[in-house]
Amino acid sequence: GLKIVTIGGGSSYTPEIVEGFIKRYDELPVRELWLVDIPEGKDKLATVAGLARRMVREAGAPIEIHTTLDRREALPGADFVTTQLRVGLLEARIRDERIPLSHGYIGQETNGAGGFLKALRTIPVILDIDRDMAELCPQAWLINFTNPSGMVTEAVARYGRNKKVIGLCNVPIGMEMAIAKLLEIDQSRLRIDFAGLNHMVFGLHVYADGVDVTRKVIERIASGELGEVVKNIINIKWIPEFITGLDIIPCPYHRYYFKKDEMLATELEEFAKGETRAELVKQLENELFELYKDPELKIKPPQLEKRGGAYYSDAACRLISSIYNDKHDIQPIDTVNRGAISGIAPDSIVEVSSVITKSGPKPLTMGELPVQVNGLVQQIKSFERVTIDAAVSGDYNTALLALTINPLIASDKAAKLLLDEMLEANKDYLPQF
Ligand code: NAD
Ligand code: G6P
Ligand code: MN
Ligand code: MN
Repeated sequence: GLKIVTIGGGSSYTPEIVEGFIKRYDELPVRELWLVDIPEGKDKLATVAGLARRMVREAGAPIEIHTTLDRREALPGADFVTTQLRVGLLEARIRDERIPLSHGYIGQETNGAGGFLKALRTIPVILDIDRDMAELCPQAWLINFTNPSGMVTEAVARYGRNKKVIGLCNVPIGMEMAIAKLLEIDQSRLRIDFAGLNHMVFGLHVYADGVDVTRKVIERIASGELGEVVKNIINIKWIPEFITGLDIIPCPYHRYYFKKDEMLATELEEFAKGETRAELVKQLENELFELYKDPELKIKPPQLEKRGGAYYSDAACRLISSIYNDKHDIQPIDTVNRGAISGIAPDSIVEVSSVITKSGPKPLTMGELPVQVNGLVQQIKSFERVTIDAAVSGDYNTALLALTINPLIASDKAAKLLLDEMLEANKDYLPQF
């Protein structure tokens, strides 16, 4: 049987991963699931573990649920380690969103100044986890969800010891689901060629039963027919002629770049009301944990679908199963580029459709990205690489450079203002600075 370790196990998303393992028990015999958290997360961990135990008992799946506040106790012998932690907890996310907004800049947990600061807090922790894994379970795969997922995964790939690292996001899955719904076909009949970066990914081609339906899908997205992809990004309609001209399928996060003014205006309204996404998530999380405490609850409650990361378990469990079973199926994941996308460094992490084998993901060759988006993707990758270097070195000038070249900031003066305020507000979580 397999041993899985989930770091950040007290997350409200954990019942989803438990459900994913229960559903796949016949092909993926998980014997032990270790949920790891920190002392601050002790109560959440106990509540989630209680629900997880009721879920496996109800389903008749012989999965043992263990909990610990010491990851070194959990790691030995692990086959897969998944990371879904939040350094600084939700309070840090509230600051990541509110500080940029207070100066008139987009405040978002993975894009712009918020995503930048989250990377500075998280990368030292993921590199500690990487060191522990190299020592205690060098054979294990690290499946990272922790945001900003692309940068956190790249930090391990470039600076860590463990080379068996894969990043994940539910956005490509959400795009598959929304496009399958649009075409009124089952998701299994659909194939989308994804290429780009995390939260900067494009659908280049869409095939239904092997037939290229890209044009049809683009026209229907242009006419505003595509439903919501993730709960946390408002589905403001695109200008039809823009989508037709773009000629590929954007992800919801592209609204921050191609609808910057509208997105900022919406966020500033929420900010003024004390209703940033992080503040709403705080309420949602309280409601979810009240449900999780109910001893009668024995399944993942549908209310979890209000979270932006819904369905991520399907991404995690289907990836783990395809590695374990050497399936050679195609999944969109975050992996080392190795030439799959021309013009991006071979050692950078990209989000790309990949063949999943027991020796890991093999990214499909996508060539150069279309000229209309290649520049933006390159710019974001420059920002990501410089941010990772700043997170590892703790060098102030590198951090200032990263924030200045981010297209959502694009000002050395604004970058300095935000950086100084955000470094001060996060000083407990930035040992490298
Ligand atoms: P959360 O605030 O519930 O945090 C999860 C747990 O991590 C908490 O119980 C917390 O105590 C714990 N934690 C904090 N620091 C830790 C550490 N050093 N070691 C171990 N545990 C630690 O967060 P959440 O809303 O469940 O999200 C978790 C993470 O997953 C975040 O980074 C979030 O951005 C990310 N996320 C990613 C995707 C994706 O598409 N990749 C989707 C949803 C969430
Ligand atoms: C999805 C993303 C995650 C993101 C999350 C936020 O959009 O893929 O990477 O951070 O949802 O969800 P939340 O409910 O926490 O705002
Ligand atoms: Mn994501
Ligand atoms: Mn084409």
